[in-house]
Amino acid sequence: MYVCICAAVTDKQIKKAVASEEICSLRDLCEQYGVARQCGNCCHHAKDVIQQALNQSSSDGS
Ligand code: FES
Repeated sequence: MYVCICAAVTDKQIKKAVASEEICSLRDLCEQYGVARQCGNCCHHAKDVIQQALNQSSSDGS
């Protein structure tokens, strides 16, 4: 599902980026994927997805 329509970024892409330690914050996501750079409607959702992914990766023990 798209999290940021303006940048066409999906929750899967975000989760993958967090899992590969490419990003760990909304700022990283903004810089690398352009998320939340335009209308800003995705801000909260994007943060939630990052947080979920971070929780998941830390509970995996990796
Ligand atoms: S939906 Fe992400 S900036 Fe518009």
